[in-house]
Amino acid sequence: MKGLILSGGKGTRLYPITYTKAKQLVPVANKPVLFRVIEAIHEAGIDDIGIVVGDTANEIKEAVGTGRRWGIKISYIHQEQPLGLAHAVKVSQEYLGDDKFVMFLGDNVIEGGISQLIRQFEGSEYNCQIVLTPVDNPSSYGVAEIDPDARRIIRLVEKPRDPPSNLAVVGIYMFDQHVWEAVHTITPSWRGELEITDAIQYLVDKGYNVHPYVHRGWWIDTGEPGEMLEANDLVLDELEPRIEGYVDRDSQVNGKVTIEKGAEIINSRIRGPAIIGEDSRIVNAY
Ligand code: DAU
Repeated sequence: MKGLILSGGKGTRLYPITYTKAKQLVPVANKPVLFRVIEAIHEAGIDDIGIVVGDTANEIKEAVGTGRRWGIKISYIHQEQPLGLAHAVKVSQEYLGDDKFVMFLGDNVIEGGISQLIRQFEGSEYNCQIVLTPVDNPSSYGVAEIDPDARRIIRLVEKPRDPPSNLAVVGIYMFDQHVWEAVHTITPSWRGELEITDAIQYLVDKGYNVHPYVHRGWWIDTGEPGEMLEANDLVLDELEPRIEGYVDRDSQVNGKVTIEKGAEIINSRIRGPAIIGEDSRIVNAY
């Protein structure tokens, strides 16, 4: 299987944080969201990953590089304009070929990784698997209507004013080669984008096997500043506390705290959850 990460687009909703930075590179708990996505895919046993890039291509390439640091191969796919998630898939056809693949939006963070999901899809007869989760504000997402035994999708709608359920479409999708038929057939939506929800609806309507997996842990689409802070909290809370740096005798470290290699804490008090990054110096501070 291959991995496809979407990191095109402009991220204007995160202004001013993204004024000088691609939104996928904004750090959550000291690590760019995009790195967390790469690591989640790699952890699932995939070592061939394509990243779709747009306006911020140079920054992303500079930060991620060839993938050598993770021991994987990264290819970059240029999308001239952010014309929709299904358009991003379309421009990746040559890279993906007829392999099964997982597509992960470069700004999503999910609890517990995706290894189990990938294994389930790889060993299945499904043509597509999508991930759904209950949310309080379904109008902000793609929303699925599924039948009561949760095995079949009836309908998918993108950011509906009147949502048919509270099940949001999480930004992790798995496809086989039938997706090509779908993305080549659908037409742009009212907002001028080729919607991935329309491509999946096409697969459903044609009778392909589209499996809805309902995720019960947390999930954050870091599209807005408040969500970014929430993701930060949740990831920090999952940390295994560890101290690899130096803490002097006049300092105190309480709660879930990670102090990375080479960091020094001098006459200070750190109250977790917190990460003190590699080689930082915290002096006379609370
Ligand atoms: O996060 C989950 C939601 O993601 C789903 O519930 C929606 O159904 C889905 O349409 C999508 O909605 P968003 O409005 O959050 O998508 P956004 O425009 O923020 O794009 C998501 C990622 O994909 C982001 O990292 C930028 C990248 N992207 C986006 C577009 C439109 C591309 O690489 N190319 C594009 O053309």
